[in-house]
Amino acid sequence: MSENQLMDWSALGFEYHPTDWNARCTSRNGVWGEVEWTQSEYMTMHISAGCLHYGLEIFEGLKAFRGVDGKIRLFRADENARRMISSAERLCLAAPSVEQFVDICAEVVRRNLRFVPPYESGASLYLRPLLIGTNPFLGVKPALESTFIVFASPVGPYFKGGIAPIDVVIDRGQDRAAPRGTGDVKVGGNYASSMLSGYQAHRSGYSNVLYLDAVERKYIEEFGAANFFAVRGNTYITPASGSVLPSVTNKSLRRLATDMGMTVEERRIPVEELSEFDEAAACGTAAVVAPIGKVIDLQTNKIYDFGNKVGPYSLKLFNTLQDIQYGRTEDPYGWTTVVEV
Ligand code: PLP
Ligand code: COI
Repeated sequence: MSENQLMDWSALGFEYHPTDWNARCTSRNGVWGEVEWTQSEYMTMHISAGCLHYGLEIFEGLKAFRGVDGKIRLFRADENARRMISSAERLCLAAPSVEQFVDICAEVVRRNLRFVPPYESGASLYLRPLLIGTNPFLGVKPALESTFIVFASPVGPYFKGGIAPIDVVIDRGQDRAAPRGTGDVKVGGNYASSMLSGYQAHRSGYSNVLYLDAVERKYIEEFGAANFFAVRGNTYITPASGSVLPSVTNKSLRRLATDMGMTVEERRIPVEELSEFDEAAACGTAAVVAPIGKVIDLQTNKIYDFGNKVGPYSLKLFNTLQDIQYGRTEDPYGWTTVVEV
C-alpha cells in the first residue's frame, strides 16, 4: 500500500500507531549485544526487573520529517543521544553511545519508511527511544542489565489545532521536580509526578500544567511536556533552572532567535512577570511551538491573558524551525541528517 493511502495523515494527533519494525539491544555488565529487529510490539520481562519497581526508565523523543524535496530528515538526533547519556548516568544505567543511538534511530526510520507521513500532511514520524533496567533484583541498587528500545509512530500535533493558542494552568498544589532532583533529565519518574496534576488540568479543559519552582513557588519552570519561553519586545526569555529539562527545541529556538536579531535571556522568571510579556509559548519536539492563550493560576485565581492569537515572534520561530525540519530552506546549522534510503 502506498504511503498516501495508509492512513488519514492530516487527521493524526499525538497518539500511538503501530509501525512495522522496532529495535532492541541489551547491555550486560556494560557490554552491548547485537541489535534485534522485531515486528512484535511486545516484550517479556522478569517480574523483578528494576524498571518495574524502582522506576529505572529513561526515554527520548525525536522526529523524522519527509521534506518538500522528498528526502527524510532526522532532527538533531545527536542531541537526544547526549541527553539520554546524561539521563542514564543519573539512574546508573549503561547508555548507548551517540553513534549507536543515531544509527539505530536512522535504521528504525528506514525500516518504517511507509509510515513517514507525506510532506503535505504536516505530520512526522516520532521516534521513541527508551532505556530500561531489565535484570531481576530486589534491593535498591543499580541495574546490571539495560535494554535500549527504539520504536516509531506517525504523529500529528501534540496540542490539538496545530499552531493555535492553548490555555494552561499553574498548579501550586503539586510539584514536578525538586532542586537537585531529576527534573533536568528525561526519566519516567518526572512524568509520574506530574501525572495527576496534568490529568486534573485536562479534565478541566486545559492543555497542560505550567510548573513553578518547588522551593518558593515563585519562578516559572516548565510545562509537564514542554519548555516555556516568552517574548517581550525583541527579547526571547526562557527559565534558567537546574530542574528543567534541557530542551533540544528550546536550544534551537534560542539560536534562531539570536540569528533573527533578538536578545536571548536565560534567567529566573518570577510568575508575575507573565503580565509583562507580549507572547508566551510551550516548546518541545512533540509540542513544536504552541502559543499560550491564557495562563490560569488555580490557587490565586489570577488569569494572564495573551489573547486568542498567535504572536508574530512565536509564528516566525515556528515557521523558521519547521522550514529547516521540512527542508524548505537551507540548514545552516547542520541540525538535520538526511536518512539515506
Ligand atoms: N520538557 C519536558 C518536560 C518534556 O517532556 C519535553 C519533551 O521532550 C521538553 C521539555 C522538550 O524537549 P525537546 O525539545 O528536547 O523535545
Ligand atoms: C517530546 O516532546 O518528545 C516529549 O517527550 C513530550 C511528551 C510526549 C512526553
